[in-house]
Amino acid sequence: MEHVDRQKQMVGEKAVDYIENGMLVGLGSGSTMYYMLKELGKRVKEGLHIRGVPSSIRTENWAKEFGIPLTDFSEVERLDIAIDGADEIDPNFNLIKGGGGSLLREKIVDAAADRFIVVADESKLVNHLGAFPLPVEVVRFGWQLTKKQIEELGCSAVLREIDDEVFVTNNNNYILDCRFDVIKDSEKLHSQLKSLLGVVETGLFFNMADEVIIGRNDGAEVLK
Ligand code: 5RP
Repeated sequence: MEHVDRQKQMVGEKAVDYIENGMLVGLGSGSTMYYMLKELGKRVKEGLHIRGVPSSIRTENWAKEFGIPLTDFSEVERLDIAIDGADEIDPNFNLIKGGGGSLLREKIVDAAADRFIVVADESKLVNHLGAFPLPVEVVRFGWQLTKKQIEELGCSAVLREIDDEVFVTNNNNYILDCRFDVIKDSEKLHSQLKSLLGVVETGLFFNMADEVIIGRNDGAEVLK
């Protein structure tokens, strides 16, 4: 196993220690979450009673595979805790998310939680957001026009494709990966993007994360 995967496994498993009996748990998306879900499934088999709200169809499928009971926002209004990965984390816990394309559902789930814990390998820590192209979810109709408007904010935007196929989100939208290089003011950029016609949501998560668990080669470090 690569050292990055070992770090992801370590923090994914450690995050499960934050989950207590009876909790409603937001289940994030991505490869780090795979390890968290696998460990959570083990604890559920050992008698831990929780219900999870998944933030992507992939997470939902993993949760079902690991025997984690699920619910949704037709049954619950708030969550006790959400655990999720990130693509970049700055010193103020501002995040870029959406590398896996699940940013909209992730933001809805993470924002509904009383406590939001981020789990990531150490490569995700940055001084300034922006080296990772910012994922922006846009409606499919007229995406070319939306792309031009986004680029006027000072980036180059690329329609996400996987294996030569345009990537479609769980909400039936497209993703534009926007290269800004350095994002100086994530709140301002987020509101500028959100004001554009066709933009559904951005991968900028600010004032949301309460704690970050970082995987390092010699163990997990909790940042508060
Ligand atoms: C998906 C996400 C993921 O949390 C993010 O991409 C991190 O993924 P990984 O744990 O695979 O590094 O935002 O939309």
